[in-house]
Amino acid sequence: MATFRTPELDRPDHADLDPRLQIETLRDSDRSDRLAAQAADRNEILNGLAQPQKTLPAKYFYDQHGSELFEAICGQPEYYPTRTEAGILERYAGEIANATGPCELVELGSGSSTKTRALLDAYRDLGEPLCYTPIDVSRTILTDSARQLLRDYPTLHVRGAIATYEQALAELGASRDAIDLPSRMLIFLGSSLGNFTPEECDRFFMQVRDFLSTGEYFLLGVDLHKSTAQLEAAYNDADGVTARFNLNVLDHLNSRFATNFDRDNFEHWAFYNEHDRQIEMHLRCLKTHDVHLGDRRFSFTQGETIRTEISRKFDVGTLQTQLDHYSLEPVNVWQDPQGWFTSILTRRIAR
Ligand code: TRP
Repeated sequence: MATFRTPELDRPDHADLDPRLQIETLRDSDRSDRLAAQAADRNEILNGLAQPQKTLPAKYFYDQHGSELFEAICGQPEYYPTRTEAGILERYAGEIANATGPCELVELGSGSSTKTRALLDAYRDLGEPLCYTPIDVSRTILTDSARQLLRDYPTLHVRGAIATYEQALAELGASRDAIDLPSRMLIFLGSSLGNFTPEECDRFFMQVRDFLSTGEYFLLGVDLHKSTAQLEAAYNDADGVTARFNLNVLDHLNSRFATNFDRDNFEHWAFYNEHDRQIEMHLRCLKTHDVHLGDRRFSFTQGETIRTEISRKFDVGTLQTQLDHYSLEPVNVWQDPQGWFTSILTRRIAR
């Protein structure tokens, strides 16, 4: 989908005129006006709620409160993926930087950029310009973390984008103004790949392949298949942060659209579907009632669920074969000692 820049809307981002900070907002050209965008988003929600298994688009997790809750999930004792991936990156960032040589780092769904710091340290040590392009849908978290990074890395240049994955991959490809670095590495951490269905995953790899030029790199962090008990605990933390994160979708929708969800009518439910090797997050309806979105009405029966997210779990061999199929050739793989999580580095080859 084609995207374009809207300079008048970008201006507030440049207000502090820090020459090391650029943040742009990407918008779809066919959703160029706000009304069209709102209508398209509304249709997406209507479609999801009209399915036999009701679903809601996962992007609505990440309003400001949701982004904060997500950061809190990452710190829960049961939620091992963030800690485990951070450990891998801290331990092997030097090897990763040596494998690729100097690169601009482009990160999809950068959030607080906490784990990325290990990579920034390693690339700084290569002694070349340090250039980072964080991409996130949440303006607040993107701007705040960019400012913090600039304070902590005096030589860093940040060229961030407020955009969805799709928009960023379509718009920020190789034709973007050249910078002083020989290559780029696209980074996709946190097992966000697992939040795609297999079909979405194929589409995503196609977009990654088209985004990268020959010789450029893709660093992918994914969670691996393991025991149901450990996986289910990770998505059902004892403090209920994941539950609040899940329920926050309903408040976010109410504030953005004319919906009247009552979060007290739902509860968080997450389980590991061993057959499909995916965690499924649902909101289970506690009593039969109707919800409306403007003039549309949806009935919810006690016990029925809305699926809000899946988190697929991978095995390294299958994933590498799949990446290779999309012209992403294996360079190296790193894992934690327990084999819970993996970081896969691939390189775009001409094919
Ligand atoms: N991609 C991560 C995962 O699947 C993070 C994540 C996305 C997540 N949505 C979530 C974590 C919902 C907990 C709950 O684990």
